[in-house]
Amino acid sequence: MHDEILSVAITAAYAGGDVLLRLYGRGDLGSEEKAKNDLVSRADRESEAAIVERIRWAFPDHAVLAEESGRQASSGGSEHEWIIDPLDGTTNFLRGVPFFCVSIACVQRRRPIAAVVLDPLRGDLFTATRGGGACRGATPLRLRDRDGLDAAVLATGFPFKAHGAIDAYLALFRDVFIESRAIRRCGAAALDLAYTAAGVFDGFFEFRLAPWDVAAGALLIEEAGGVITDLDGRDRWLEGGNILAGAPGVHRRLVEIAARHTSEEHLDRLVPAKTI
Ligand code: IPD
Ligand code: CA
Ligand code: CA
Repeated sequence: MHDEILSVAITAAYAGGDVLLRLYGRGDLGSEEKAKNDLVSRADRESEAAIVERIRWAFPDHAVLAEESGRQASSGGSEHEWIIDPLDGTTNFLRGVPFFCVSIACVQRRRPIAAVVLDPLRGDLFTATRGGGACRGATPLRLRDRDGLDAAVLATGFPFKAHGAIDAYLALFRDVFIESRAIRRCGAAALDLAYTAAGVFDGFFEFRLAPWDVAAGALLIEEAGGVITDLDGRDRWLEGGNILAGAPGVHRRLVEIAARHTSEEHLDRLVPAKTI
């Protein structure tokens, strides 16, 4: 069953990716601000429609949670829900920064069981099924561990939609910056997580992401032998969107550093989590 779900996820990701390739670089995409600093355009909507159509055709009874159209409950109480980001990295896409992706996960009782992240510009496909491993194209992913942050290259995202978290974020950033070799802010969290699963980055941290930013990337990381948690080192990352991830030794150090400055409870006071 996981393999059947994965193959639908891959077909759907390519359908979304084709829309993005067709529209990338065009100036007439009618972008608007859904909320402060949070953009949506024709590219997001058309990619989402193409993805959701494929999924609903294959699994009409599954629930769907898609960034632009929201939640469609399952008919008949299926345990499966598809969590879709039709364009992760919208600001990059609209500005012509070539770093964006499609992210699709299928979760069962809130646990991801199949995941796809597709960078359509490079044809770079990341896939995983629970218990079945993660791959980049046909190559299986297996993370090499490190002890702490020495020489580590990390990725992050700034809390540009959650300004209340900036001081806690900068305190964490400062200590991670001092201990690591480099930190990148590329602008598409799902692709950052996929790169972390592939060992391109050794770890990743960001606050207040949405379920569609992280559901697929989280399974890629776990199946590649990495760890993903919330700020307390626990498993409520899908609900709160606060992410510490990486190879086990890197993740362990991120949790230690985060504990000096913040916690789930602290961040809830600064920026309440959205209920989606
Ligand atoms: C955003 C990107 C960005 C991250 C934001 C996300 P969107 O997703 O992943 O890297 O920092 O928090 O919301 O809006 O481009 O799908
Ligand atoms: Ca996103
Ligand atoms: Ca998006």
